[in-house]
Parts: sequence; structure tokens; C-alpha cells
Amino acid sequence: MARGKKTTVYFCQSCGYESSKWMGQCPGCGEWSTFVEESIEKKAVGKGRGSLAGEDLKAHKLSEIEMLDKGRMPTGFAELDRVLGGGIVPGSLVLVGGDPGIGKSTLLLQVCRNLAGSMEVLYISGEESLQQIKMRAQRIGQFAEGLWLFCETGMERIEQLVRRQKPQIVIIDSIQTIYSEEISSAPGSVSQVRETTARLLQIAKGMDITIFIVGHVTKEGVVAGPRVLEHMVDTVLYFEGDRHASYRILRGVKNRFGSTNEIGVFEMREAGLQEVENASEFMLNGKPKGASGSVVACSMEGTRPILVEIQALVCHSNFGIPRRTAAGTDLNRVNLLMAVLEKRAGLSLSSSDAYVNIAGGVRMNEPAIDLGIVMALASSFRNKVVDDKTICFGEVGLSGEVRAVNMAQQRVSEAKKLGFSTCILPKVCVPGLTDTQGIRIVGVGSIREAIQNG
Ligand code: TYD
Ligand code: MG
Repeated sequence: MARGKKTTVYFCQSCGYESSKWMGQCPGCGEWSTFVEESIEKKAVGKGRGSLAGEDLKAHKLSEIEMLDKGRMPTGFAELDRVLGGGIVPGSLVLVGGDPGIGKSTLLLQVCRNLAGSMEVLYISGEESLQQIKMRAQRIGQFAEGLWLFCETGMERIEQLVRRQKPQIVIIDSIQTIYSEEISSAPGSVSQVRETTARLLQIAKGMDITIFIVGHVTKEGVVAGPRVLEHMVDTVLYFEGDRHASYRILRGVKNRFGSTNEIGVFEMREAGLQEVENASEFMLNGKPKGASGSVVACSMEGTRPILVEIQALVCHSNFGIPRRTAAGTDLNRVNLLMAVLEKRAGLSLSSSDAYVNIAGGVRMNEPAIDLGIVMALASSFRNKVVDDKTICFGEVGLSGEVRAVNMAQQRVSEAKKLGFSTCILPKVCVPGLTDTQGIRIVGVGSIREAIQNG
């Protein structure tokens, strides 16, 4: 391709897949109608950005590299620290994605507040004015002097300011509003989002600054989603939750410095986000007593067991094809479990509508909740209540067998802590339990057994 030539390419706004022609379905992520045209200027070859640390052309021996014990910095939120793998790693690039209005700006402004007393923090907003940020800050509380605000969308000016100010933490809110003059396409387009993130990566690694990037998730594909830049950053966190409910879940989906799948639970209050330490208690809040189709299951989210209420409603279908929905879990999984129930437990569900819901709007996909879904469906179908003080967990196989899951003891302990009196779990997990005092353990080998005991 000729140097400096302007070309038109098509990008998938969901995953960033690049193609020379428009396509209906993205071969990268399988989404439909996500391709948009963008004109990009191919950079002249040889003008690469060079090394991350800004050094000469030199390779290093592993033994020569000094281990700098930079340590992790606590964010002031234990829930966030856990998701980050134990605090902020200096010089890392962290992406915080989520739906608009979920609370990303609020969370990061609160992190700024926690850190401003001990270090220099620069909050760069491309979305809100200084007055708007001040208004939000007033809801959150008192701020120390170490927080600097800057409203800007030009990448070049942001870079200049960061190089001059040399803060330890930078927040970019949001990446979709930032543009680089070197690229002709609009802010929020795939090429802009990529270019500006690459520049931020340079700054983070070269100057040892931790940068938090906010990225909005958009369904319509008007702006490029955070998935486009997941591969460039060190850590990817998603902030999720039902906008109408007050709690929010911060989920780690990628972490170069810690384990993924950890979650942090927050509650949105009048004065900002509040950490929720006892997530299980919070999730079970409002569980109906003595209702059929409601069962408590246990899911491991990273290292933490969380109890959730699974609700199912099974009723006779008035149409030829029964209706099935699943909120908070995978519909295919629900369909599969219903087929297993029909074939292996003799429940004739094929002409019934079924609605499954994980109460509270959380998403849980761990196989260990299978048994909970099965018991909730059976309970609703038979209109037989499962005892309120019973929890269950276990993976269900196609033969109707209840299979082993990991960390059984942690789950039992969590149930005990919350005052449950019976735990239905896979039979094979029972010998591995070390502390079962005060709770009745019911080991089951098949869903038939589980339903009889429920
Ligand atoms: P926001 O952080 O602006 O969302 P995002 O940056 O992800 O788009 O969150 C906005 C919502 O949070 C808004 O609906 C108001 C609510 N909110 C509170 O309930 N309490 C508060 O103290 C604050 C600051 C916001
Ligand atoms: Mg915001």
C-alpha cells in the first residue's frame, strides 16, 4: 500500500474486526450489522512508536532485569482491590466498561477521593463540565487537595498535560470521547479508540502512571465498544447491574496481575457507591417465604461463594411452541436442563411455558447452579415448596446425574454462616467436607433424588 494513502476500511464496532468490504455478520464475534465504514490514513512505514519504556534498541537478559518491588496501592475500596488482584499496580492500564449510567464515573470519582490524600490524581473528563463534576463530587463527600480536574477531548493536549503534571493516577472518562488529530475518523470510531488507547498505553508504561479508562458498552454500535481495546490493556473490569436496582457488580474479565472472575459488589446510594461486604445476604434480601419455584443456590464468583435465589415459573402453554425465557443465566442451559428433567425425572415439561430468573438481576453462569435451576423448575411444576432453609448446588449431567463441583466446603460454610439448615449437594463431594457441624448434609447422586429431598 502506498505511503500516507487514505483508504476506507470496515470495522466491526463490537470487536474491532477489520475488513476491506462490508459484511452483514462479523466473522470475529458473530454479531450482526456491526460493520461501519471508516477512512484511515495508513501511516508511513518506519514511523513506529518504538519501545514502551522509551529506550534505545537493546534487548535485555532476564537475569539483568531488576525486580522493582513497587507494591500495590489500595484503592480505598476492598471490593475493587480484590477484583484488581490486590490493589492498583503502578503503571498499569485498567479498562472499566459498562452501560451508560451504570455508575462508572461515580466509582472512579470515589476512587479519586480515596487516593487524593496520598497521591496526585488527574481526572480527565470528555463528557462532563467542571461544574457537573463538582456537583457529583459534592454528593460523594469531602475531597483532599490531590485531585486535579481537566475537561478535554484532544489526545495531544491530554498527553502534554499529563507529561507536565506527572500524576500517579490518571482517569480518562470516557475513551469514546477522546480523539487524536492524527486520525481523520470521528471520536468513538474503532480507529480513534484504538489509536488513543495505544497512546495512553505508551504514557502508562513509559511514565509509570496508572491509567483508568472508562468505556461505554453500546448495543447499537454507534460508538466502538470496550471490547475493541480489551487486548491492549492490562486489566478489564465490567461494571454491571440492573439500572433499576441499587446494587452493582464489578466483574474482572481480564487481569494480567491477578485472577479473573472475581467480583465486587456495590450499592448505589444517594451519596455514591457503598461497598457490600456480605453479598449473599444482600442477594437474598426479599426472598419470598413458602413460595414454590424459589430455591437458593450457591455460585462461586472467583474465590467467593455467593448465595442467590433462583426463581422458576412453569405453567401450561397456550401455544404450540412453549415459551421459555431465562434472565440472568443461559437460556440454552435452561432448555437443556428442562429436557433432562423430562427424560430423567419424568416431569412432562414439553408443553409448559417456563420462565427462569436469577433474582436481583445478577448474571450467573457457573455450572454449580444447575441443581438450583432444576429444583426451582421442579418445585414450580409440582407446586411443591422447597424448604426456605435449604440450599443446593451441583452440576447436572445429561443422564440426570448430579456431578461434583469444586470448593464444596466454602459453599457449605457460606450457607451455615447465613443460617441455612440443610444443604443438598453432589454425593461425591460429601467425603471431602471438613466442617459440617450445625448443617444437615444431603448428598445426592441424581436429580430424582434431589427433587425427593427438596
Ligand atoms: P454515572 O457514574 O454518571 O454513570 P456512568 O458514568 O457509568 O455513565 O452514574 C449515574 C447514575 O448514578 C445516575 O443515574 C445517578 C446515580 N447516582 C446516585 O444514585 N447517587 C450518587 O451519589 C451519584 C453520584 C449518582
Ligand atoms: Mg460517566
